[in-house]
Amino acid sequence: MIQYQTSLEHIQADQLEGFFVGWPNPPTPVTHLEILRRAAHVVLALEGSSVVGFVTAISDGILCAYIPLLEVLPGHQHQGIGSELMRRMLETLSEMYMVDLLCDPDLQAFYSRVGMQESSGMLVRNFDRQSGNHPTSNHSAVR
Ligand SMILES: CC(C)(COP(=O)(O)OP(=O)(O)OC[C@H]1O[C@@H](n2cnc3c(N)ncnc32)[C@H](O)[C@@H]1OP(=O)(O)O)[C@@H](O)C(=O)NCCC(=O)NCCS
Repeated sequence: MIQYQTSLEHIQADQLEGFFVGWPNPPTPVTHLEILRRAAHVVLALEGSSVVGFVTAISDGILCAYIPLLEVLPGHQHQGIGSELMRRMLETLSEMYMVDLLCDPDLQAFYSRVGMQESSGMLVRNFDRQSGNHPTSNHSAVR
C-alpha cells in the first residue's frame, strides 16, 4: 500500500535510493535529502519505509511556485503515484497565483490531466553542477 506524507520527520538518506534515473551526475541520497529539506513543499510516496516517489516545490510563499522535481521509481510507475503526488502538490499550492514547471513535450498530456496548461519556457542548465556536490556548494550535505 502506498502512503503519502508531507513531513520529512524520520526520513533518512538510505530511504532515498534509486532516484534520478538516467542522470549522468546524480545527487547522492544524502544530497537528495537536503534538497527535500530545502524545498518549500514536498510530498513523498512511501511503500513501507521506502520512498518510491516524490515531488518538490520552491516558492516565494506569496505569488509564485515552481515544481522542479517529480519522480517515481521505475518499478512503481504506471500505478497512479505520479498523478497523486501532483494532485496533492497542486492542492498545497492552490493559493498561489502562478505554479510553473518545465517538461518534455511527451509529458504535457500527463500534466494536462492533473489540471495544468501548456506553455513555453526558457532555461539554463549547468551540467557540471548536476550532482549538487560541488566544492563551492553551500549545503551541509557536502561539508
Ligand atoms: C512522469 C512520472 C513521474 C509519472 O509517474 P507515474 O507514477 O508513472 O504516473 P501515473 O501512473 O500517475 O501516470 C502514468 C501516465 O503518465 C504518462 N507518462 C508517464 N511517463 C511518461 C513519459 N515519459 N512520456 C509520456 N507519457 C508519460 C502516461 O500517460 C502514463 O500512462 P500509462 O501508465 O497508461 O502508461 C514517472 O514516469 C517518472 O518518474 N519519470 C521519470 C522522471 C520524470 O520524467 N519526471 C518528470 C519531470 S518533468
